[in-house]
Amino acid sequence: MSSELRVEHLEKVFSPGARPAVDDVSFTVEAGEIVVLLGPSGCGKTTTLRCVAGLEHPTSGRIVIGGNVYTDPAAGVLMPPRARNLGMVFQSYAVWPHMTVRQNVAYPLKARGASRADIAKGVEEALALVELSSYADRPVTQLSGGQMQRVALARSMVYQPQILLLDEPLSNLDAQLRLRLRDDLRRIIKRVGLTALYVTHDQTEAVVLGDRIGVMRDGKMLQLASPLELYNNPADLFVAGFTGATNQMAGIAVSREDGFGTIAIGGDQLLARLGANVTPNTAVKVALRPDNVVMAPPLPGPNQFPAKVLSRHYQGTQTVYELALLGTTVEAMEVGSAARHAEGDQVTVALPPDVLWAYTDG
Ligand SMILES: Nc1ncnc2c1ncn2[C@@H]1O[C@H](COP(=O)(O)OP(=O)(O)OP(=O)(O)O)[C@@H](O)[C@H]1O
Ligand SMILES: [Mg+2]
Repeated sequence: MSSELRVEHLEKVFSPGARPAVDDVSFTVEAGEIVVLLGPSGCGKTTTLRCVAGLEHPTSGRIVIGGNVYTDPAAGVLMPPRARNLGMVFQSYAVWPHMTVRQNVAYPLKARGASRADIAKGVEEALALVELSSYADRPVTQLSGGQMQRVALARSMVYQPQILLLDEPLSNLDAQLRLRLRDDLRRIIKRVGLTALYVTHDQTEAVVLGDRIGVMRDGKMLQLASPLELYNNPADLFVAGFTGATNQMAGIAVSREDGFGTIAIGGDQLLARLGANVTPNTAVKVALRPDNVVMAPPLPGPNQFPAKVLSRHYQGTQTVYELALLGTTVEAMEVGSAARHAEGDQVTVALPPDVLWAYTDG
């Protein structure tokens, strides 16, 4: 049942002269794959999703689902949302308050003229999937937020849509419930084998849920890659920052060899991975995640430097330090409850070249 989704050169301009909300975005979601669109508020995630759903009319580009063109303004093609057979789950619990759980989930099948027997079977299966079978006859108003969102999910899957579209479905839930439902969601979607496009601005949610993650900014898709690739090989400074590399050190690229190169920072030199367009003698920013700073490195090794502990923030299961390092201030994180270093300490730190990424500055 699940289909491949192709988004080709999608562009959406809301008002003439305005910056495009979606700016030449292209990507494919394979049949049965979960792709997450991740990015800060206003970067165009929802608009992209709504274009796929047919709720928004793009300015140009094509939406192709299961090999069929659903949207192509240049050719005058715009299939209405209802005819697309897509499932949708939104941030607000879009359940019908005057109905029971069963009635809510049955509704899409009824509206499609399914037989009584098919409705009963479909509803039973969908409720079992979201583990709400014993709540079937409850009015939805007597459910928790998480349960309501599971009803919404069951209702969006009961008619076996070609693709499931989810827009921040967990953001109205409290933190604990969000974690539980996040894991459930992936399991449920994978069990049915649905193709899914999932929108969030929460990195952890994206990593846990997505087979691949597309990072968006200002309407553009910056990188579409597996979570592992995204976290270990971010394409640019923004993606690095968005995946937690909050330290940025200014330097000059001195040399380049394959993917690595030497960076001069003040009078020191370090080895780092280089972004695709970094050439010798260009100004760069070196991005680094606090948890990748090694605070008690085995001596000797590459990229080891003296540092001074400026401050210590003990957080119980981890400690965050501010370090004076390479002429700048760098945040470092020590995992565990030990907090081995104190304010004023002179320490040696290592910055592993594999997780140091230098990008052109700007
Ligand atoms: N109906 C509309 N009319 C005009 N501009 C719009 C409309 N809908 C969205 N925009 C603009 O398009 C841009 C992208 O909006 P979009 O809702 O897609 O962002 P988003 O990535 O989903 O953000 P968030 O994380 O806050 O939900 C924003 O600048 C927004 O103001
Ligand atoms: Mg949105």
